Amino acid sequence: MRQLSDSQLASFDTEYVDADRWQMVKRNIDRDFPDGKFRFLDLGGGTGRFADLLLANYPLAESCVFDNSELLLAKNKPDPRKQLICDSAEHLGKIDGRFDLVSVHWLLHHLVGDSYAQTTINQRAVLGGLAGLLASRGRISVFENNYQGLLLDALPGWLIYEATSMRSLAALTRRLGANTAGVGVCFRSEQQWRAMIAATGYKIVDYDEPDQWIWPLRWYWRVFLFLRRVRVGHYWLSPARSH
Ligand SMILES: C[S@@+](CC[C@H](N)C(=O)[O-])C[C@H]1O[C@@H](n2cnc3c(N)ncnc32)[C@H](O)[C@@H]1O
Repeated sequence: MRQLSDSQLASFDTEYVDADRWQMVKRNIDRDFPDGKFRFLDLGGGTGRFADLLLANYPLAESCVFDNSELLLAKNKPDPRKQLICDSAEHLGKIDGRFDLVSVHWLLHHLVGDSYAQTTINQRAVLGGLAGLLASRGRISVFENNYQGLLLDALPGWLIYEATSMRSLAALTRRLGANTAGVGVCFRSEQQWRAMIAATGYKIVDYDEPDQWIWPLRWYWRVFLFLRRVRVGHYWLSPARSH
């Protein structure tokens, strides 16, 4: 899988789960883990701000932040209930034990390979592989961006992948504002994320679009991408065969 450089990763020193988005996650946690005692893995958890929020709200919870960026992991606030692992999501097998909750917040679109097909394989492998880490009452919290096309539903995500992953276009896409220029990023439409979730063996227990965020996308990107709509989607999953 391709990895962003430290200068590209620096922009992820932020927390994307704001108050409205947190309420959405919290409502699901309170319903599914009413005792507040759970083991939590934050895959692509970076600076650990989300894990800190969770630990502050659930004093009996324990967390593990897993990320392949040493730069972002180094920004974690130490906590005896927080473990840090520096590795890539393709090595899930190295993680010990089972988790009640795994969060995959804005990670899947970064699992980029050398082709669109390989990227799809990477995303499916990581999402599907998480089943092996889930406890019997396990849940997965996924935040992703849903890009919906004007003519074809999946077209914007594919165009973004093609434009951002092309190394020869990196100088141009960087100048046009793409932080992932030359490495790539692979967003999908809501329909595509839902299909991937079903194909990897999960069902959606809860879905929401937490906000009406007006995306700061420049007009030429909207035109170039044939974009109808872009929204943050929160998918709360359980294994398809669980209750
Ligand atoms: C957009 S940021 C999201 C950070 C955090 N989950 C949040 O919601 O604020 C993507 C994160 O995924 C991490 N990441 C990207 N590719 C990864 C990989 N192959 N394995 C593990 N982490 C990865 C990045 O280092 C970064 O921390």
